[in-house]
Amino acid sequence: MQQKPLFVRHAGQLVTLKGSSSSPLRKQTMNELKIIEDGSVWLEDGVIQKVGTDEELIRLYQSRLQEATVIDATGKLVTPGLVDPHTHLVYAGSRENEFGMRLQGATYMEIMNAGGGIHATTTATQQADSQQLFAESKRRLDQFLQYGVTTVEAKSGYGLSLEHEIKQLEVAQQLNEKHDVDVVSTFMGAHAVPVPYKENPEKYVDEVIHEMIPEVARRGLAEFNDVFCERGVFTPEQSRRILEAGLQYGLHPKIHADEIEPYGGAELAASVGCVSADHLLRASEQGIEAMADRGVVGVLLPGTAFFLMAEMASGRKMIDAGVPVALSTDCNPGSSPTVSLPLIMNLGCLKLGMTPAEVLAAVTINAAHAIRRGHVIGSIEEGKAADLIIFDVPNYKSLVYYYGINHVHTVIKRGKVLIQ
Ligand code: NIG
Ligand code: FE
Repeated sequence: MQQKPLFVRHAGQLVTLKGSSSSPLRKQTMNELKIIEDGSVWLEDGVIQKVGTDEELIRLYQSRLQEATVIDATGKLVTPGLVDPHTHLVYAGSRENEFGMRLQGATYMEIMNAGGGIHATTTATQQADSQQLFAESKRRLDQFLQYGVTTVEAKSGYGLSLEHEIKQLEVAQQLNEKHDVDVVSTFMGAHAVPVPYKENPEKYVDEVIHEMIPEVARRGLAEFNDVFCERGVFTPEQSRRILEAGLQYGLHPKIHADEIEPYGGAELAASVGCVSADHLLRASEQGIEAMADRGVVGVLLPGTAFFLMAEMASGRKMIDAGVPVALSTDCNPGSSPTVSLPLIMNLGCLKLGMTPAEVLAAVTINAAHAIRRGHVIGSIEEGKAADLIIFDVPNYKSLVYYYGINHVHTVIKRGKVLIQ
């Protein structure tokens, strides 16, 4: 059955972020959100047809008013659907037992090196069948939607063998097909060196390069290729080889960089031409400059630093240096078990030195660019996907000010009302 047009009317603030489809926002432009007061949007065929003041739109659509479903957004905030550009959505099991250990002083890396952390989730994920993985991950995707997130990136990396990495990516693909939230897949076979390869990590790197990447690409299971470049995990040299191998198979490079210590990850991201470099808590000044020059999106994950009780990345410095910054939950079972992108926005203001306008740009248009979707989502513009959130707050500043509260009122995905 054909969907009726949707007419969202009278938004107190309609934040469009118009004009940023070709490249992400940087510096001062991150503060220029393009706000329409008493704004309205006509959505039809899953696409944004017209955006403007209510007066402008009613003139155009008066004669078709009867056939549309009208949503009154008086006094409310309307934004593009939120985009989470960095998650580890698909996994099995849980790790709350590690929380007590960390609270008593054990570090993230100590727990991982003792066989916990990523290795624990890998064991649980390897043991789970596809149905279980699907069910556990779908639950998280439902929760993302409750918070206004309409597109997520999802990484593999808890399979750590050809068979299980493919299983994880296939589940992500099924979720993309069956769930209203769009799921964009990233292969991350280089998330950890599996325990049996501990004495011979090069052998695992070889498998990632010569077996996994070609097969994942052949099956069309991922768009991106990510690597955890960190001392004790993959070296910058190994990371470069893995990312360059991916490029040969059409997988766009991403990197977990400089999370625990400065390790040349930001520099490597610029040198390889990564779409994004993520974490960056300890990125060097030169690395940040190189990223700005090359236009690598910096995906910052303040929820992870918060949860690991670590020092935050300097969002302010990166924006001022010209890096296009995006924000993400890093949703995963160990270092950031959350789906609340609005909470991350609040942390962006309080802990990364970003303005409310910058954090909104960072979870919409810049996040879309971090997953090469800047031309289809991330702003409210004619021709883009009809993904819209109505928040029950009068303006975008209130969205991050009243923190820890879910302000979502209505979620519209591809022109369909999913939550109201
Ligand atoms: O982005 N840093 C590496 N990977 C994830 C954590 C994964 C996990 O602990 O399970 C991250 O923080
Ligand atoms: Fe991550």
